[in-house]
Amino acid sequence: ADPRTFYDAVGGEETFRKLVARFYAEVADDEVLRPLYPEEDLGPAEDRLRLFLMQYWGGPQTYSEQRGHPRLRMRHAPYKIGPIERDAWLRAMRIAVDETGIPEPYRTKLWDYLEMAAQSMMNSWV
Ligand code: HEM
Repeated sequence: ADPRTFYDAVGGEETFRKLVARFYAEVADDEVLRPLYPEEDLGPAEDRLRLFLMQYWGGPQTYSEQRGHPRLRMRHAPYKIGPIERDAWLRAMRIAVDETGIPEPYRTKLWDYLEMAAQSMMNSWV
């Protein structure tokens, strides 16, 4: 473990596993988000988001080994992501971040990134 990385400083894979599992528990019950996911099983989507975030924050590069370059805006193009979808995504993520118990200053840094990323994923203004 390299505590200079955000990934290790917040607790490594276990922390990302909790965060993303909590997020997808919200997605499963969300009437805006759930219909966007093409698969009945949310497990593979959960794996992809967890591996992406682990890689982004300095952990193992498994996401790119499995999926190639992230190109997240392109990968989200098939889904309409307007203000309602963005807000629903951030609402679910807010719960996940808060309940995962990541300490400051990491929590704020993570949240600021997620807000920015959700904004940049929008491809509709209605
Ligand atoms: C994939 C929705 C924002 C990261 C997906 C999928 C949907 C979705 C429906 C396809 C499910 C699947 O992987 O099978 C949304 C919505 C967002 C949003 C409604 C609202 C703004 C974000 C943000 C990030 C992100 C902010 C990163 C910080 C990912 C990743 C994948 C994914 C890594 C899998 C890409 C792949 O390798 O295929 N998202 N997303 N998403 N999303 Fe999002």
